[in-house]
Amino acid sequence: MIILSIETSCDDTGIALIEAKGSIKNPSFRILANELSSQIEIHKGYGGVFPALAKREHIKNLPIVFAKILKKAKIENKKKPFDLITVTYGPGLEPALWTGIVFAKELSEKYKVPLIPVNHMEGHILSVFGKQKGEFKIPKINFPILSLLISGGHTELVLSKNLMEHKIIGQTLDDAVGEAFDKTARMLGLPYPGGPEISKLAEQGRNIVLKNLGATEQLQEFSLQNISLPRPMMYSKNFDFSFSGLKTAVLYLIKKIEPLNETQKIQIALEFENAVTETLIHKTKKAIEKYGAKTLIIGGGVSANTHIRKEIKKNIKIKEIIFPDKKLSTDNAIMIGMVGYMRFLKNGKKGKKLSSIKAVGNLSF
Ligand code: KG4
Ligand code: ZN
Repeated sequence: MIILSIETSCDDTGIALIEAKGSIKNPSFRILANELSSQIEIHKGYGGVFPALAKREHIKNLPIVFAKILKKAKIENKKKPFDLITVTYGPGLEPALWTGIVFAKELSEKYKVPLIPVNHMEGHILSVFGKQKGEFKIPKINFPILSLLISGGHTELVLSKNLMEHKIIGQTLDDAVGEAFDKTARMLGLPYPGGPEISKLAEQGRNIVLKNLGATEQLQEFSLQNISLPRPMMYSKNFDFSFSGLKTAVLYLIKKIEPLNETQKIQIALEFENAVTETLIHKTKKAIEKYGAKTLIIGGGVSANTHIRKEIKKNIKIKEIIFPDKKLSTDNAIMIGMVGYMRFLKNGKKGKKLSSIKAVGNLSF
């Protein structure tokens, strides 16, 4: 069957057209078209996503992206170009979510095809099996899975006994990791989104440290600036996180040493990335031990971070670790189509009553 999937939970308008086949135990997918319209340039000036603007942009972009998809897949003139529609209904920014839902409902009525609402976080879990192009299958997986979902809006540890039953075992009590990256970047005068910017600076810092390993004096100059940040809740007994204290610690550190020179900016970025990475790894390791997880999935925008990926591979011992294709680690409609298909099969090949589908900003598992 052909699935049209729609994602508007944050600042990306994503639509994909996917051919899906097979049973819930052995599903396979083929990407027919995939488009993403990013709003990064629009939100840059605000240092984060501005919900009212996101809504306006989604409303403007949805018909444009939809027309592009139909054209790319060469099905503009088909009476029934797809058999099922899937749309993200939460979690996310409610005004943004509604735009996708309203658009999906209109198409569902127009083309007389069922509509399935999808949990965005379930999308991030399945995203690790996706590809941007061509065909792919969901392989055999060893359960239980532990997923570390790290994005601009979420930081969660999720335990899954199969691909459709999930339980949150830990989450952030305040800011999400991506949000901490974005806010720290802003304090350092770096543009939005801050994750990739911090990551670039931190990498420069690591290279300086490496290059100077022999030259002790310069290395001392680099590290003597007394730049150290906390590893929040690292030793708390549960699997929850907290990143707002880390952000505040960055603020105080900057206030103490202002005006910052370039070296100090690099040092703060490096220390910040190290603090986040160590905290995430420590909690993930503990959760794997406690729940006997066999597979580790890392999903969400922050999972694109090269250092975090490298350190997870180096420090976590588990049967299998799966990361998404970097382009599918941030928000996209492919993952929403994959989940939608699985949910459609699970629901007995029925859509949801349109009037019952609503945006749920704080949707949980
Ligand atoms: O999953 P995502 O696209 O959107 C949400 O659902 O939030 O995640 C976006 C977040 C932003 O906070 C961005 O700064 C962060 O992912 N991010 C990164 C990197 N690339 C994106 N954080 C750290 N390192 C990166 N390379
Ligand atoms: Zn996301």
